[in-house]
Amino acid sequence: MNKLSVFFVLLLCITIIGCNRTSIEPQKKISKEISSEKIEDLLQQMTLKEKLTLIHASSSFTSGGIPRLNIPEISMSDGPHGVRYEHGRAWSRLENADDKATYLPTGITLASTWNKSLGLQYGRVLGSEAKERNKNIILGPGINIIRSPLNGRNFEYLSEDPYLTAQMAIGYVNGVQENGVAACAKHFVANNQETNRSNVDALVSKRALHEIYLPAFKTVVQDANVWSIMGSYNKVNGQFATHHEYLVNSILKNDWGFDGVLISDWASVKDTKEALLYGTDIEMGTELVKSFNNPDYDGFYLADPAEKMIESGEVPESVVDDKVRRILKLMMRSTVLTDYGKGERNTEEHQKTALQVAQEGIILLKNEQILPIKSAEKKTIAVIGHNAIRKFASRGGSSQVNALYEVSALEGIQKIAGDKYEIVFSEGYEPYFDENNFRKDNVQTAAQTKVNDVKVAASKKSNQKLVKDAVAIAKKADYVIFVGGWIHGFEGYPWGEGTFDSEARDKVNLKLTFGQEELIQELTKVNKNVISVLYGGSQVEMNNWLPKVKAYIHAWYPGMEGGTALAQILFGEVNPSGKLPVTFANSHNDYPSHKIGEFPGNASVDYKEDIFVGYRYFATENINVPFSFGFGLSYTNFTFSNLKTSKDKTDIIVTCDITNSGKMAGYEVLQLYINQKNPSVKRPKIELKDFEKTWLEPNQTKTISFTLKEDAFKLFNEDLNKWTLENDDYTILIGNSSTFTPLKTTIKL
Ligand code: BGC
Repeated sequence: MNKLSVFFVLLLCITIIGCNRTSIEPQKKISKEISSEKIEDLLQQMTLKEKLTLIHASSSFTSGGIPRLNIPEISMSDGPHGVRYEHGRAWSRLENADDKATYLPTGITLASTWNKSLGLQYGRVLGSEAKERNKNIILGPGINIIRSPLNGRNFEYLSEDPYLTAQMAIGYVNGVQENGVAACAKHFVANNQETNRSNVDALVSKRALHEIYLPAFKTVVQDANVWSIMGSYNKVNGQFATHHEYLVNSILKNDWGFDGVLISDWASVKDTKEALLYGTDIEMGTELVKSFNNPDYDGFYLADPAEKMIESGEVPESVVDDKVRRILKLMMRSTVLTDYGKGERNTEEHQKTALQVAQEGIILLKNEQILPIKSAEKKTIAVIGHNAIRKFASRGGSSQVNALYEVSALEGIQKIAGDKYEIVFSEGYEPYFDENNFRKDNVQTAAQTKVNDVKVAASKKSNQKLVKDAVAIAKKADYVIFVGGWIHGFEGYPWGEGTFDSEARDKVNLKLTFGQEELIQELTKVNKNVISVLYGGSQVEMNNWLPKVKAYIHAWYPGMEGGTALAQILFGEVNPSGKLPVTFANSHNDYPSHKIGEFPGNASVDYKEDIFVGYRYFATENINVPFSFGFGLSYTNFTFSNLKTSKDKTDIIVTCDITNSGKMAGYEVLQLYINQKNPSVKRPKIELKDFEKTWLEPNQTKTISFTLKEDAFKLFNEDLNKWTLENDDYTILIGNSSTFTPLKTTIKL
């Protein structure tokens, strides 16, 4: 039965039973037409059992409906960078399903574009494809702060900076929801590691919560009106985040006015009473730990146990009513009960967005006059490295996508440069299991990963023959493009879990794996023109190989058109414009989360570095790193001038000029940071407060304007328990990275 008929039947039922209730018609528009009368009317007609049906799962990716009232189930899907392959009702992949989808560059690649409008385009692709596959909620974006480079899910997240994270997420959420599909911002909150993720207690100060870990969630609630949020597995300061009295009830729902639905992560509800009282609206995934092969949905915390608790009077039914109201509202806002027309899947338009995000998200970090490769004669290029032929879409955990296609680096290079250059390839190394690189301190997760499973799935060994073959072709080549870095996981393992950029497990360190460091050393011995291209959700240790290569590109996981975009950058068809959304220090030990705080902790993890996360720490302590936050090279040069400030009531208006002083057209990202002169408490030396990406032809100058609200200058005062603006001097700094800010001016507030 389609949605329209569902409504006619509902209308008929209501008329037949002769009550004076308002009819339930399909909503034509989002939020504006939500009628609380209709919601109340439906609520009145429900038994307690029916209400409870709505607040927990009815299959692996649906929450319950009420057929008697023609209320359908809600259908959900991961997310965050493509609509996940089809599950059906059980917790296993549905064979032969029609689920090929657009595989977008992952979250960290999107954030590296620093292009807000691409966030919107990206969200539109996801929303449209989710709608086409009849999904009402897409489980993304992932907006947890990148606290340590070892977090296995950093590739899904956006940045170490709350402002950049928030700004990229706004477009994403709007783009998804324009299609009538709810975005589900995740994972709320302080879920900054995978090790022991189901139980670890994150000990975080109020100030760090408000200044670092909460702002992106606040922004998607207040500036993008997100319809759902996913509660995380971990505890925060002693209570599970999915049912947290302070974080969910007081902050999210009360202070911020979130009127959407808080969905649990899959099996993150741990207690019936707390889930009832402290804000969980829909419980998902509990069967994964309770009864994996024989799901007992009535046994969910928010099913029969909740019924007993309410019937005994221990918890009032009104708490369930609040959840039901929120769920009905989400249904009316979204495709569950509103006709938004048809979605589209695998269109050229969607693939173009995937390409554009990759073009702007891949980052050029080092270039000693070697890129772009341009030669009048036919030269030989040796492409070396396993990652040049590897496809990434289908691994990494819940974010896996059945990509319609995926252009590898080698395919991209052949496509873009195959007729002008002689391209030769050698694999150089292959992934193999190394116990030292495998985190053993992880508590078992839903997928029940065991070290032995991974060993069996990945039994290859370091291969000296591959090294020899690679060196032989490198010797004869004019250029070597080495393509290596991280992978999501090993072949044959169900979730592709185990190493390295993967759900449910963190990295052990940032050392290059599978003998790649030795391989690069050998290649640089026989060829002076080695260009290193690395994939992965983080950097690797660079000190031993970076000085020896002529260029370094970080490609993250650049999606289905990643190989095309990479080749376009290598051969100068595209001028690179990606900027680091995280700091690239050499070792994980350099990061404040490891040096001052803890990672991954044990039963608890103490965020002792407090607000000094990422560049906030490196800048304040004047520590040099190989590549700072906000950094990324272009094939042209930009100059900055003419900084002016003025006041418009309480707003500060900042303008400056940017000129493309080089020979190639391209994008540049202007980044605006502030510094407070004498804060009452220790404050980072710089904080990002705005940015703007702009396109400039050679010799073109543009004036860029920023408006800073008073909020931009505030800090969270723990004694007063609120954001405060201190009377002080504030310096505004503008440039194109956190360590290059040539324009400066000081204002008094
Ligand atoms: C992940 C979520 C995901 C969910 C459903 C969980 O294990 O943490 O991000 O959306 O599974 O697949």
